[in-house]
Amino acid sequence: MMSYKQNSMNDPAASLGGPVGAYPSKHVAPPASHSLPIVPQIFPPSHESALIDSFGRIHNNLRISVTDRCNLRCTYCMPEDVVFMDRGELLTFEEIARFVEVAAPLGIDKIRLTGGEPLMRREMPRLVCMLARIPGIRDIGLTTNGLLLADHAQALYDAGLRRINISLDTLNPERFRQVARRDGLDRVIEGILAAKRAGFEPIKINAVSMRGITEEEVVPLGRFARTHGLEMRFIEYMPIGADHWERNKVYFAHEILEQLEKEIAPLVPVEDYDPRAPAMEFRYTDGGGRVGIIASVSRPFCASCNRVRLTADGKLRNCLFALDEVDVKQLLREHAGTALIADVIRKNVMAKWEGHEINTARFIKPIRTMHAIGG
Ligand code: 5AD
Ligand code: SF4
Repeated sequence: MMSYKQNSMNDPAASLGGPVGAYPSKHVAPPASHSLPIVPQIFPPSHESALIDSFGRIHNNLRISVTDRCNLRCTYCMPEDVVFMDRGELLTFEEIARFVEVAAPLGIDKIRLTGGEPLMRREMPRLVCMLARIPGIRDIGLTTNGLLLADHAQALYDAGLRRINISLDTLNPERFRQVARRDGLDRVIEGILAAKRAGFEPIKINAVSMRGITEEEVVPLGRFARTHGLEMRFIEYMPIGADHWERNKVYFAHEILEQLEKEIAPLVPVEDYDPRAPAMEFRYTDGGGRVGIIASVSRPFCASCNRVRLTADGKLRNCLFALDEVDVKQLLREHAGTALIADVIRKNVMAKWEGHEINTARFIKPIRTMHAIGG
């Protein structure tokens, strides 16, 4: 597995030839993915137990999908007719918490809850509470499409959730229906406002940028975020949904930046720029807030990846694009011992490949689509 994945991921420009070199020079933030191995400064309890892979990447970030169900059908994410997992296949909250109890001493300290749409699962504040109590967990975030957020924002905040990302690709109701194949824009806006009232800070808005589809949304979304004190984040369209993906449908980071600068205000990389974070962060020079760009295609950040993923049906995936996954549900249901579960997690991380190869002919799209992996 590893051998055919070893290529020029640590030199994106070599495999891309396009957008990376095209950034205006002031936008060239410190390279996200140059020399391997990357050794982050924050070390988990001991090197013996750390979740380290064969490229030296230390993993402290766990993304947990709690359901594959969703009340939208975003074209880039899932097919219209989708067969969802049986409820009995989903990990229970107790099983999720048990997994996290094993993973935390291995250095996992940051969790993001995802879906499908995580708020389709009942009692999410209870899960947040359970996870927040686990020693070593210092940060819990949630990524939601916002449709059900107005009803749950306060309870989630009270349970200990502090960081929230809300997906919103457009402010135009027609376009919303075109992308999400359902209505719901008003409810998402209500959800965003409820999150603000509840005290979430920062609130990040995630928009997938697709050429010819959400291209015109960049500036209205940028303005909306500035007006409401939200951080806008644009994500390059990735080949992980049901739709046939083509490179020419990706609306690239440098194009987004150019639009924002032309129509809104000049941008510069933030001073506290974190080269390990997936988002390249910029701030408006007029003080109008921040913008993040997740350039997964034009500027892959695999070399500094610190994430593992647990799917709703209890499979561990060491990469969004992984072709293999390991079952931990069985172990959890058999009440396997801590050492055994820890060993499975450690081995899964150790076997992580160098990175996705979206930009090469070797790329193989995983069978699971985004809604069943967790964004
Ligand atoms: N490309 C980029 N981002 C995607 N998401 C879902 N599918 C894709 C894709 N194909 C994002 C959603 C949401 C998060 C859960 O994942 O926009 O913000
Ligand atoms: Fe649902 Fe999120 Fe997928 Fe859209 S991107 S269909 S909101 S899971």
